[in-house]
Amino acid sequence: MAVTRTFSIIKPDATRRNLTGAVTKKLEDAGLRVVASKRIQMTKEQAEGFYAVHKERPFFNDLVSFMISGPVVVQVLEGEDAVKANRDVMGATNPADAAEGTIRKEFAESIEANSVHGSDSDENAKIEIDFFFNEDEIVG
Ligand code: CMP
Repeated sequence: MAVTRTFSIIKPDATRRNLTGAVTKKLEDAGLRVVASKRIQMTKEQAEGFYAVHKERPFFNDLVSFMISGPVVVQVLEGEDAVKANRDVMGATNPADAAEGTIRKEFAESIEANSVHGSDSDENAKIEIDFFFNEDEIVG
């Protein structure tokens, strides 16, 4: 298995509760390395662009409002099969379905305020990383 990269967001429900470190520790304990990280206030345009794939979904407007309701931490994570490693430690989208020990099981408040986002494929990881980072901001 190769060392790859994935993209992560620590969402506003987690930054509001001062959980940036606790979430990052879970990621690191899962074998992932934070090779880029910045705390930002997303604009409405950024949130709409990032989640454009969901724009026909009934939850789209609420999702955008939530993602701009406070700061987020966008990160590039590197590790063996990083997309899968990150998805495993995140847990299911709905915290009610998330396995014990996962980030969403421990920290998420709801399916919307679910503490973290992670890319679902290598292809989308590259698109999402490029959405928020220049290559010179990523230091492996
Ligand atoms: P995320 O991985 O960031 O991708 C899309 C987000 O939409 C998802 O996590 C959830 O936080 C959010 N969301 C809100 N409502 C729903 C829903 N009913 N089904 C799936 N995702 C939802």
